[in-house]
Amino acid sequence: MVEQLQQMLEDFKTGIEKVQSLPDMAQFKAEYLGKKGRLKGLMAGMRDLSPEERSSFGAKANEAKQFMEKLIQEQSTRIELEEINSRLDKEWQDISWTDRLKDKGQQAAGLHPLSSVMRGLEDIFLSMGFDILDGPHIEDEYHNFEALNIPANHPARDMQDTFWFQDKKHLLRTHTSNIQIRGMEQHKPPFKFVGPGKVFRSEALDASHEAAFHQLEGMMVGKDISVSHMIHFLRTLLSEIFQKEIKVRLRPGFFPFVEPGFELDYECLLCGGTGCSVCKQVGWVEALGCGMVHPNVLKAGNIDPREWNGFAFGLGVDRLTMMRYHIDDVRHIHSGDLLFSQQFKAY
Ligand code: DAH
Repeated sequence: MVEQLQQMLEDFKTGIEKVQSLPDMAQFKAEYLGKKGRLKGLMAGMRDLSPEERSSFGAKANEAKQFMEKLIQEQSTRIELEEINSRLDKEWQDISWTDRLKDKGQQAAGLHPLSSVMRGLEDIFLSMGFDILDGPHIEDEYHNFEALNIPANHPARDMQDTFWFQDKKHLLRTHTSNIQIRGMEQHKPPFKFVGPGKVFRSEALDASHEAAFHQLEGMMVGKDISVSHMIHFLRTLLSEIFQKEIKVRLRPGFFPFVEPGFELDYECLLCGGTGCSVCKQVGWVEALGCGMVHPNVLKAGNIDPREWNGFAFGLGVDRLTMMRYHIDDVRHIHSGDLLFSQQFKAY
C-alpha cells in the first residue's frame, strides 16, 4: 500500500504539470482528492492493516494529502495569473483620442465653439477686474429661488420649468443666478464677479431651446451705482464680445431678484434683422436679463441695502455662440459631433 501511495504521488506530480486551466485543475483535484478519488480509495484499504501499520500509513497519507493540496493551490494561482495576463494582452485597447485619430490620418479637433466663447467672455471680464466664480449644478431651493426673492408658491417659480430631485428640496439649477447668492456668501462689498456655467430646464426642444444650456451671471455691488452705469457697462460688454457696434434695445422685464428689471435685446446678426429661425422671425435676439439688485437679495447676502447697491445680469451663452459663429440650431452645440466642432477656430 505504501508503494501504491508512492505511485499515486508520482502520477500526481507528472499529471499536474499538464493541467493548463482552472476547470481542468478542478477535475484533476477531484481525481486525486475527491470523495471517489485515488487517495480516498487507498485509505479505504487501511481497515485491513494492523494497528501500527495503520497509524504509520495514516501519517504518510496525510502528508501526501497536504503536499497535493499545496501544489494544487500554487499551480491554480499560477494558471489564474497567466489567464489574466493573456486577457490583458488580447483585450488591450488604446483609448487616447490622439492615437485613434492618428490612425485615421486626422488631427485632434480645436476648441468647441462654446468653450471658445466662454473663454473669450472670461478674458473680457478678467480684463475688467471681475472675479470668476463657479457654482454647483445640483443646487438647493434656497440658493436657486428663496434667497433670490422667489419664495415658495411665487408664480415666478413656474417661469422656469425645473428638474426637481425626489426630495423636492434639491434641483438642477435653472439659472446661474444661484452664483449671486454663493458669491455674496464669499465676498464683502464692494465687489464684482461673474459666474459662467450650465443650467437646466425641462423645456420643449426646438432650434433655439435645449434642456441644458449655458449662462453667464454677473453681479457688481458698490456705492451709488445707477441704471445708467449698468446700461453703459452692458453696451460696452456687447461691443467687446462681437468686436463691432451692435444695435441694442432695452425693454422692461420682470425678474424677482432685480428692481427695476430689464431685458436687453440686440439685432439678430444671422439675418441682420429681417427674421430667421434663431430670432423667431422678429429680427431681435434676447441677450440678457438685467436690473438693479433687489434689496431682499442683498439682505440674503448679509449686505445692508441702505449702504450698498448694484446691478446683476444673466447672459445666454449658447445664443451668443450661435450668433458669433452663425450656427442656426442650438442642438448642434450639444451634438458632440467632431465634424461640427472641427469647423471652428479659436475665439
Ligand atoms: N436668471 C434669469 C433667467 O435665467 C436671467 C437674469 C435676469 C439674471 C435678470 C439676472 C438678472 O442677474 O438681473 O432667466
